[in-house]
Amino acid sequence: MEIKKLAVCGKGGVGKTTFSSVLSYVLARKGREVFAIDADPNPTLAEALGIPDHILADITPIAEMTELIAERTGARPGEYGSFFKLNPRVKDIPDRYAIRYRDIHFLMMGATKKAGQGCACPENTMIKALMSYLIVKEKETVVLDMVAGTEHMGRGTAASVDVMLIVVEPGTRSIKAAKQFHRFARDLAISKICFVANKVRSEKDELFIKKQMLGLDLVGSLPYSDSIIEGERGGIAIYDSDSEYREEVSRILERIGVR
Ligand SMILES: Nc1ncnc2c1ncn2[C@@H]1O[C@H](COP(=O)(O)OP(=O)(O)OP(=O)(O)O)[C@@H](O)[C@H]1O
Ligand SMILES: [Mg+2]
Repeated sequence: MEIKKLAVCGKGGVGKTTFSSVLSYVLARKGREVFAIDADPNPTLAEALGIPDHILADITPIAEMTELIAERTGARPGEYGSFFKLNPRVKDIPDRYAIRYRDIHFLMMGATKKAGQGCACPENTMIKALMSYLIVKEKETVVLDMVAGTEHMGRGTAASVDVMLIVVEPGTRSIKAAKQFHRFARDLAISKICFVANKVRSEKDELFIKKQMLGLDLVGSLPYSDSIIEGERGGIAIYDSDSEYREEVSRILERIGVR
């Protein structure tokens, strides 16, 4: 089976967005059409992709597309208690609303007003339907930069994720969180669940993670990199900041069977 739907998760600050951005570019370089999706209510994937500020300024997150949401669901964001469609039409959205930058199609989901409460509001319904479409129906490659709670992803949708990549760093907290994500992903019937170590500074770090991850599918070890942090300050794509990091991402893709 060809791996096309890749979801990245992990504890806050472990490096999900950094990894997702490089993953997207490496897949695009392989000749794939890539949709990079920022599904975090505090979006930062655009910056990691190096999308310049003047383009960024024009991006409206899907959750804030009031007119579109109203047209498709029959209600405006924040209109509670009104009737609206639970299965809005979304299939034209990836092509119509994704920003194209350096061969990547980029979509920002945005936050719902009552994020975290799994609200049944029009904007949340819209995002859920779009997530489902992207994972279940979209024919091209999709990389999802996710948050801790995958509230936007119902069971049926999650089962169509080809691989869940859980990022860990050399510390007990992120590893504990990763194991929870693992259980969670298994419960959602995600078929392939892998772990990626990040911010690895030494052999000691690597050994620590390997020991903690014993028996689990650790597919790579990304180096801690000062040039990533410097590049970030300069507003350049992380993909361009560090070749060692980038090459390990390529190897990770090979190890999980992406050609
Ligand atoms: N390999 C690395 N080397 C050095 N710094 C890194 C590395 N990976 C990530 N970082 C830095 O760590 C910080 C958090 O990274 P990132 O935003 O990718 O994490 P995240 O998991 O997406 O965070 P959040 O949970 O807030 O979305 C950033 O400042 C990033 O530059
Ligand atoms: Mg992030």
